[in-house]
Amino acid sequence: MPRLGTFDVWRDAARALAGADVASDAIAWRMEGDTVGLFEGDAHALPPITAPLNVPRAFPTLAKQVITARNGAAPHLLYDLLLRLRDAPKLLNNRADPMVQQASEIAKNIRRDMHKMKAFVRFREVTQAGANRRQFLSWFEPDHRIEELIAPFFTRRFGDMDWVIVTPEVTTRFEGGALSHEAVRSDRLELSDDTEELWRTYYANIFNPARLKIKAMQSEMPKKYWKNLPEAALIPDMIATAEARAQQMQDSAPSLAPARADRILARLPDRTPTDAGPLAGLSACTRCPLGTMATQGVPGEGPQDARLMIVGEQPGDQEDLQGRPFVGPAGQLFDRVADEAGLDRQAAYVTNAVKHFKFLPRGKRRIHQTPTASEVDHCRWWLEREVTHVQPVLMVALGATAARALTGDGRDITRRRGRVEAGLNGLPVLITLHPAAILRAPDPATRAARQAELRADLARAVVMLDAASGVRDVIDTSQTTH
Ligand code: URA
Repeated sequence: MPRLGTFDVWRDAARALAGADVASDAIAWRMEGDTVGLFEGDAHALPPITAPLNVPRAFPTLAKQVITARNGAAPHLLYDLLLRLRDAPKLLNNRADPMVQQASEIAKNIRRDMHKMKAFVRFREVTQAGANRRQFLSWFEPDHRIEELIAPFFTRRFGDMDWVIVTPEVTTRFEGGALSHEAVRSDRLELSDDTEELWRTYYANIFNPARLKIKAMQSEMPKKYWKNLPEAALIPDMIATAEARAQQMQDSAPSLAPARADRILARLPDRTPTDAGPLAGLSACTRCPLGTMATQGVPGEGPQDARLMIVGEQPGDQEDLQGRPFVGPAGQLFDRVADEAGLDRQAAYVTNAVKHFKFLPRGKRRIHQTPTASEVDHCRWWLEREVTHVQPVLMVALGATAARALTGDGRDITRRRGRVEAGLNGLPVLITLHPAAILRAPDPATRAARQAELRADLARAVVMLDAASGVRDVIDTSQTTH
């Protein structure tokens, strides 16, 4: 059987042999490249397939996994099962059957190997000048012959880039959206680039020494995978210093303010430098771990006596680098829609519910992660200070996170959109869509509809501000039904 397409070749051969009632012990299944035993003969031509062979749907699924096992008995076992399934189509449901048990055990090991490969493949960027897609390379040593089985996972996950995964026996390529496999022997690749540093930083930051369970860690991430993981270089040091770091975490625990612990917060020293304006100097906040990942905290900006406050979710990639809110793609779209609605962004105070960028490193990209409710709660003290200081006449919540931070109500905003609810300090909050929801729209019609909704809501904000004195009266007190 060939190294690639093994299942298809096994299936066709097994079908022909079973159709001709060839007994299992009359067959020697051989993998290409295996040495031939002394008493094994040459390959014979297969009998023609005479009649279709019906098997339960679960069998090919099981066989596709089992055939990849580096276990010489697997093709035999599958053939024996196939012969028995002809008379006992429900055989696979019999968990007590030793053959079924053996096949299930092998399949379990294969799935475990696939799980490890999903978790431990690390791509290094190798993009060539002039390439129109980013290019990545990875080395991995699976226990079993799972390269073809696992490839669809990587094409789904990394469909927007070109990549190559090299294993000791197979090179899998995904280039320009086309997947191909080549059975070539390769020596271990030593890969290194600056992405590695990013992985290391990420891993060191998410590492929580208080939760270190060395045994569990080693069974989940066996040592044999460590050599290909850039972050693994940190493990010995992290283990050695875990106790001290856990103690350090305990000692500094009070800096992680419990959510809504207003009284505790009030007693904490004010970190605001008195000579730099009331809202400056907050970006050194370390009350939650997000600050350790981000480049900087991104405070709000705009007139400190603005009548309108615009609140988003959290800084994105561009905002994190520039230290200013809403300057990236979502911010640019917001500016355009605000302009169409007659809203002057320069006159508004623009900020976010969470002030640090939360992301997952992926190659050289940083993938936005929605902040959790607890992260929003931990960051609320900062937003409260902004609201108290600016005292806007009206606030606009862009999206669910901002709505939750300002109103305390975390319910879905689809039915709340366009409503005015009571927010921090009793101030009115107009709830609308986040511009990123427009950027993410699945088709042009949805995009246009969402953009029109945001425009209408912003236009309403302008009208409300114009009629400033009555703004507090427009808080919608009716309950939304959810
Ligand atoms: N999205 C937000 O919610 N805020 C920003 O500042 C940028 C993008």
